[in-house]
Amino acid sequence: TEPLKIALAGLGTVGAGVIRLLDANRDLITRRAGRPIEVVAVSARDRAKDRGVDIARFEWVDDTTALARHPGADVVVELVGGSDGPALTLARATLDGGRAFVTANKAMIAHHGLDLAALAEERSAPLKYEAAVAGGIPVIKGLREGAAANALSQVYGILNGTCNFILTKMEEEGRDFAEVLAEAQALGFAEADPSFDIDGVDAAHKLSILSTLAFGTALAFDDVAITGIRHVIAADIAEAKALGYRVRLVGVAEAGPNGLFQRVHPLLVPTAHPLSHVVGSLNAVVAEGNFVGRLFFQGRGAGDGPTASAVVADLIDIARGEYGPPFAMPADQLTTLPPADAGDRRGRAY
Ligand code: HSE
Repeated sequence: TEPLKIALAGLGTVGAGVIRLLDANRDLITRRAGRPIEVVAVSARDRAKDRGVDIARFEWVDDTTALARHPGADVVVELVGGSDGPALTLARATLDGGRAFVTANKAMIAHHGLDLAALAEERSAPLKYEAAVAGGIPVIKGLREGAAANALSQVYGILNGTCNFILTKMEEEGRDFAEVLAEAQALGFAEADPSFDIDGVDAAHKLSILSTLAFGTALAFDDVAITGIRHVIAADIAEAKALGYRVRLVGVAEAGPNGLFQRVHPLLVPTAHPLSHVVGSLNAVVAEGNFVGRLFFQGRGAGDGPTASAVVADLIDIARGEYGPPFAMPADQLTTLPPADAGDRRGRAY
């Protein structure tokens, strides 16, 4: 059978991880996908950089956005990042050409997901972004497919591995914020601009995507109220602990009679709640469905292996011909709700 041919844009932590994963699990993936999945062309900033994977066997393309029209590729995988710029140009050109597009780019999906989904639907091109939210946790598939039959009232969770790593280390070791941030950066979890992590913007990107899937509402990233963890100090965490709480950066979204409530903020989580036991760079997502009840997803939310796992899962879906509207219903069916503020909440306990 014909392989599914991949053009890969971006060879950072995740891009190299995708190549490693496709090599390591080749036979298994071929059997599950029904055909081999093969990278044919790659593009990145620096060709010579040592990434620990052999890229000499792939065609090198200088202009990343040219991958959209690469004659030998069935799918373009975008791991470049950035909400606009080359990533967006590549996304539009790929989908416009009717070709499948897979991305880990939460900022781009949060800002441009509706337009991209509408274009994908118009051209019957798959658009998949499992890796954009909570790394390796299959939460997009979980909400889009697994919980598809439910009305969901609430979705919340720990959506940034860097912040959770920092908060955990500050608690366990009483260490300083800046020192732990440097460690998270060295481990490859942090964004290129780590202020996206610590100021809560990255978690807000992901929350807005989850809201859309959960509630069938149009993406509303600009309506997320955001407070990051920059001002949390080790003493706050120690005092919270003495009272039976842990500090976590939590994103909460709720669709209610007054509108759509979306907020990212440091929260005191009681140690009896499962979110307080989500440690290190782990992420977790909780969703409440009217028939399924409470769903709790947990796993690694950042890093090369988990994120590559999500990217390749999307590729396997495409190889199998499994796809549908990117946001679970046609983009023109998504409704717009007014933003609700904290006073509009039903006051439900997590
Ligand atoms: N910087 C992100 C995080 C990477 O720390 O969670 C995964 O999206």
